[in-house]
Amino acid sequence: MRKFWTGVFQNRKRKVLEQKLLAQVDRTKLPRHLAIIMDGNGRWAQKRGLPRTAGHRYGVEALRKVIEASVELGIPVLTVYAFSTENWKRPKEEVSVLMDLIVEYLQKELDELHQQNIKIRTIGSIKELPFNAREELAKAEKTTAQNSGLKLNVALNYGGRMEILEAARTVARQVETGVLQSSEITEELFSSYLFTAGQPDPDLLIRPSGEYRISNFLLWQLAYAELYFTDIYWPDFSKEEFYRAILDFQGRNRRYGGV
Ligand code: FPP
Repeated sequence: MRKFWTGVFQNRKRKVLEQKLLAQVDRTKLPRHLAIIMDGNGRWAQKRGLPRTAGHRYGVEALRKVIEASVELGIPVLTVYAFSTENWKRPKEEVSVLMDLIVEYLQKELDELHQQNIKIRTIGSIKELPFNAREELAKAEKTTAQNSGLKLNVALNYGGRMEILEAARTVARQVETGVLQSSEITEELFSSYLFTAGQPDPDLLIRPSGEYRISNFLLWQLAYAELYFTDIYWPDFSKEEFYRAILDFQGRNRRYGGV
């Protein structure tokens, strides 16, 4: 019984803190695009004597909270790194659980995401994913295509270098066939060949789990992003953490190479 009341009390305390932080967020200075590397699921699980896959399961809960908070705040674009081109090197069973989680998540949450006016897009080389994952992702994109709220990019089998190479190949082909002059290749034009075409570049990248690198994520797009690192593992990433990151971002002085 004592444990129960301690839990209730802690939950209340957390809510109060969350509201306090939220009240400090300046809604006129939000990142137009927020990118997140959802890292630390495996270590979170290992610390609790659980299989790594349990960490991914709890990681989905953290993602749900962050999507909700982004919608509530009115952040225009959110990109989450769910599976990199390098993640295929993981044990077969872990890869399979991750793919199943994506399918499960979409089957369970698509209606809710749609109701929240979220527009889902996958970025990455989708054709290598299992059939059922591709099917659910295609359904999610189609169902939400006309939505005008949060743009949610889910990076799957994504690699930044691969994205840049693909764009470079397409541009090169257009030059070869005379559709383009090399002098016409500008940053804007090149950006329009990336998965994120038409979207603003991320203003803020969040990476939890105490790692300080960008791991082949949005290499082109992150050129001027503010980077926010925290030691918390992704499954523990709460709305409180989310607001802390936004507040930290709002306190930065962005100069873009100027003074
Ligand atoms: C990195 O943690 C996390 C991943 C490779 C997977 C992220 C996926 C999810 C949160 C869930 C699935 C997503 C959707 C869209 C439903 P890690 O396993 O590398 O952790 P570690 O560094 O502690 O080992």
